[in-house]
Amino acid sequence: MTHFGEPHIHLKSTGSTNDVARELAEEGAASGTVVTAAEQSSGRGRRGRVWSAPPGKALLLSAVLRPLELDHVLLPLSVPVAVCEGIEALAPVKTQIKWPNDIWISEAKVAGVLIEARPPDWAVIGIGVNVAIELDEFPDDLRWPAASVGHGADVDAARLVICAALDRWVEAPQAEVLSAFRARDALTGREVLWEDGEGVAAGIDDRGNILVDRDDGERVALGSGEVSLRLG
Ligand code: BTN
Repeated sequence: MTHFGEPHIHLKSTGSTNDVARELAEEGAASGTVVTAAEQSSGRGRRGRVWSAPPGKALLLSAVLRPLELDHVLLPLSVPVAVCEGIEALAPVKTQIKWPNDIWISEAKVAGVLIEARPPDWAVIGIGVNVAIELDEFPDDLRWPAASVGHGADVDAARLVICAALDRWVEAPQAEVLSAFRARDALTGREVLWEDGEGVAAGIDDRGNILVDRDDGERVALGSGEVSLRLG
């Protein structure tokens, strides 16, 4: 079993913890190796977006998982479930997941996940959590409303609870992952839009795709690599 956070490397400042963890993975770093930073100068989000956070106020964490096996096929679902569980162990808040892997508190984004992999050798699980960022510290041009864990939570405690949750969820049986994700799915029943369509979200299939009922009556399954989903 992988123990995330053993070893743990903390950097005061770096470009992107995902880049550091990728290099370590390429050099053979053990499964469970975690890299964190107080500050990133070129933090990356999904779809080539920038991820920024004021120094010391967000958990910026990248973890090596190796080898990447068939059992890990639902990693894009199990990681956000672990992040939700960790956040809820940290503070009296309720989290939900906007498929595929944005974590929400009251429909505002508190965390995001960026998984990069070189199968079958390794995956790097990148997690950014707004732990103690005040509302006026978020950039004005955010694409979505943002939230922090708040309640006096600190970044080290966030790392510990999230690593413990990763230990459990990364190896969890697929049926458990699916049911935990579905229980937190914020989109079911909501109008959603993507690049070339719109419809009503109808849950998650067993492969982790989102199902959408289009206006023409057809149900389509969308993969996270294919679409960028917005609320209608
Ligand atoms: C997203 O919501 O688009 C994913 C954001 C992932 C951000 C984290 S912060 C730690 C790690 N290093 C990065 O450069 N990105 C991830």
